[in-house]
Amino acid sequence: MTTQAHEFAHANAERFRQQLMELVRIPSVSAYASTHAGEVRRAAEWIANDMRRIGVQNVELLPTGGNPVVFGEWLSAGANAPTVLMYGHYDVQPAAMKDGWSSEPFEPIIREDGFMYARGSSDDKGQMFTHIKAVESILATRGKLPVNVKFLIEGEEEVGSKNLESFIAANVERLKADVCVISDTGFMHKDQPVITYALRGLTYMEIHVWGPKQDLHSGGYGGIVHNPALALVQILSKMHNADNSVAVPGFYDDVKGLSAEEREAMKATDISIETLKADTGVSQAWGEAAYTLRERIGARPTLEINGLYSGHIEEGAKTVLPARAMAKVSCRLVANQNSVKIYELVRDYVASLTPPTVRSEVKLLNRGEPALTPIDTPAMNAAIRAYEQGWGKAPLFLREGGSIPVVSDFQKYLHTPVLMMGFGLNNDGAHGPDEHYSMEMFHKGIDTMIYLFDEIGAQGK
Ligand code: BES
Ligand code: MN
Ligand code: MN
Repeated sequence: MTTQAHEFAHANAERFRQQLMELVRIPSVSAYASTHAGEVRRAAEWIANDMRRIGVQNVELLPTGGNPVVFGEWLSAGANAPTVLMYGHYDVQPAAMKDGWSSEPFEPIIREDGFMYARGSSDDKGQMFTHIKAVESILATRGKLPVNVKFLIEGEEEVGSKNLESFIAANVERLKADVCVISDTGFMHKDQPVITYALRGLTYMEIHVWGPKQDLHSGGYGGIVHNPALALVQILSKMHNADNSVAVPGFYDDVKGLSAEEREAMKATDISIETLKADTGVSQAWGEAAYTLRERIGARPTLEINGLYSGHIEEGAKTVLPARAMAKVSCRLVANQNSVKIYELVRDYVASLTPPTVRSEVKLLNRGEPALTPIDTPAMNAAIRAYEQGWGKAPLFLREGGSIPVVSDFQKYLHTPVLMMGFGLNNDGAHGPDEHYSMEMFHKGIDTMIYLFDEIGAQGK
């Protein structure tokens, strides 16, 4: 049933879009810690000001070991009403024209196709903003919310939420809630809502290989000194088996298998080869043939090379035998793998593969645990009903391949169910050029959040 709050949201749709453009114009790139800390803070301040304006209480930027958390709450529903903790992130991935953008990444425009093009439009400013605009719409029309609400909007998600775990551990009372809601995932098709119930974890590493004390003439020494770039690719070439599974000993020991029932249910969200081709431009799929594409993304761990660095990478030829080589390597993890244990397994395997002609080291950069949320809880029923009303269609349950480290932290420290109710689309271009966000998804997302608050409120504690 459409409520006055929904009518308010529709009447203010243009203003909400303009506000979102203002927010995405701020280049809050957390990866550029040394140059963009001011912009990151400006985005946090912008959100805090909007929260204050709409009537959220106790709005503050709370310090962490890194970028501040935007915190706010509205607790006037009383102690007998449930409390909902809303999570999002205001930091974004780097973006520059040279990466292939067709318009400036931090100059948002809404094109004829109904999408807003800008870095962060989908991941995650546009999605996070649905929460604030839903709260605004209810407060503006009813003067009160059906639930207590807390906001935790962080500024380091895109760099691994390094400081968030200790922040949550130190603020358990302040963050105490009955359910957590995250909008930072996507649908496969705009007309079929999904609720994400699994995310992968991450272990991100650098593998360093050192050889001679300095770069050498490849004529003078090639053939008598082991080239570190060669040694590195020799190590990397042993990371996978012929069936494309990961060869690190012990890697799969803790992987939770899929039941026959779940495999059957996952067929509804499988990725077709046509979709893969259209989204990526590759002509064929790759990976473990024994699993469907959705199973590979949602229930199988991986080891990827994210970057390779060695020797002469500029213009022209340079006959050099480089002194060092480095690979950025990351593993996506599934329940019940542990990110530290996986680091140790990779580290030990690399050590065992390193010949005495070079020296190697595996450094751990960042990590996050995988997450699996139960789907048969009362809170999940509220989410299902919210999507049914927002989209006129029941949601499917989806296992995703990306990572949101805070999900497992919420489960570990707050012991709350987590609802991953994303309003993005899988092909929004997150992290890539021309990231875009469907304004239809944005507005329906606000509607759905209003329904969610009402559903959770109706359930009571
Ligand atoms: N919103 C994404 C996570 C995501 C992506 C969920 C795709 C579901 C599908 C998030 O902002 C993200 O990019 N996370 C990083 C986390 C990493 C830096 C620890 C990721 O997955 O690479
Ligand atoms: Mn995100
Ligand atoms: Mn992201």
